[in-house]
Amino acid sequence: MKILVLHGPNLNLLGLREPTVYGAQSLDEINAQLGALAFELGAAVECLQSNHEGALIDALHAARGVAQGVLINPGGLTHSSVSLRDALLAVNLPFVEVHLSNVYAREPFRHTSLLRDVAVGVVLGFGAESYGMGLRGLISHLRRRVGDAARPAG
Ligand code: DQA
Repeated sequence: MKILVLHGPNLNLLGLREPTVYGAQSLDEINAQLGALAFELGAAVECLQSNHEGALIDALHAARGVAQGVLINPGGLTHSSVSLRDALLAVNLPFVEVHLSNVYAREPFRHTSLLRDVAVGVVLGFGAESYGMGLRGLISHLRRRVGDAARPAG
């Protein structure tokens, strides 16, 4: 099972960027932890960070037929990107939205997500741990779906 992990704008600066909000861990450390967790769970991750909306959309298009699900922290694009939402729907890959911070305890403009209603689930507010929780949830969801499809109806 392959999971595409996408990190949006400014997440390359994790560890340096507003550490009181986003924590001290770097993106490389988070990606390494996700790789180890995925391995433990019998899956694999491919991680990509971009500060460009189009690059994230291109990665989603390329994941068709390659990945079975997507773990995404869209950063600020969460609150603004119709195109990212459209791309996630277009490729029809189950996805989990994650955030390091509790966006609902922050400025009102962060209280909107254009993705949350089409996500399998959303995990937020647990710092870097949000990613691990999201990955576990996504893999369980995908395994359940495979199990459901294999089981005879009725
Ligand atoms: C974020 C929350 C967003 O509002 C913000 O723009 C980010 C990071 C988070 O992980 O808490 O870049 O997605």
